[in-house]
Amino acid sequence: MAEEILKVEHLNKFYGDWQALHDINFSINKGEVVTLLGPSGSGKSTLIRTLNGLEPFRDGKLYFHGKEIEQDQKNWQELRQKIGMVFQSYDLFPNLTVMDNILLAPVKVQGRDKEEVKKEALELLDRVELRNHADSYPRELSGGQKQRIAIVRALAMHPELMLFDEVTASLDPEMVRGVLQIIKELSDRDHMTMIIVTHEMNFAAKIADRVLFLEGGKILEETPGKQFFEKPQTSRAAEFLNSMEF
Ligand SMILES: Nc1ncnc2c1ncn2[C@@H]1O[C@H](COP(=O)(O)OP(=O)(O)OP(=O)(O)O)[C@@H](O)[C@H]1O
Ligand SMILES: [Mg+2]
Repeated sequence: MAEEILKVEHLNKFYGDWQALHDINFSINKGEVVTLLGPSGSGKSTLIRTLNGLEPFRDGKLYFHGKEIEQDQKNWQELRQKIGMVFQSYDLFPNLTVMDNILLAPVKVQGRDKEEVKKEALELLDRVELRNHADSYPRELSGGQKQRIAIVRALAMHPELMLFDEVTASLDPEMVRGVLQIIKELSDRDHMTMIIVTHEMNFAAKIADRVLFLEGGKILEETPGKQFFEKPQTSRAAEFLNSMEF
């Protein structure tokens, strides 16, 4: 039986008087990859930030493993240990080395043994081919390298769900592939449950089990990945794919 990780029911989100998300409903099962697509301003980042407690919502319900998430800070602090997020900007602490950036939350927040986390961090760094940069500072790394570290830092928390919001959008083209490859491997090898916002359509077509297509803060369609890229259900999504020259 599929194990449901996250479920969203009738979620409405406002910025002041203006409604940014309209009646959002979907769920994601363990090991699934859901991709959020849609034009600029359609609400992709707003939705993904809401799923991590970074944006409050007005009504509707969120469930994690079937348990309703109360909207209070303490709750979200706990939950954020299980929901990893990587943004477009890397948000590494500039005054800490790569290793200390990775160790910080597992040791300070989760109270795990430093040596044990360090060993795991080195294995993860190996995986993203940056083990020799463990003692570097973020300023000494390229954008692509920083983004790979940001992914490792999130993984070191042992998340059950990973959220990615346009993690390659600010990278030079030659850096993009390496980062996408790591995310693809997380799906293929680790069966990581992921919600991904991306403008890289070829990547989305390869990785998405399901696509949610958003416009104007609404889910216009929810379609299996393969089908979405071959024959989307709405003309609006077809137009969008054409505009992306996919
Ligand atoms: N903090 C905020 N306050 C007010 N309005 C906001 C805020 N953040 C986003 N919005 C508005 O909400 C809408 C959705 O924005 P959002 O950033 O979620 O879009 P997006 O789909 O991620 O777009 P993009 O592809 O450009 O990243 C936009 O109209 C935006 O102007
Ligand atoms: Mg966005």
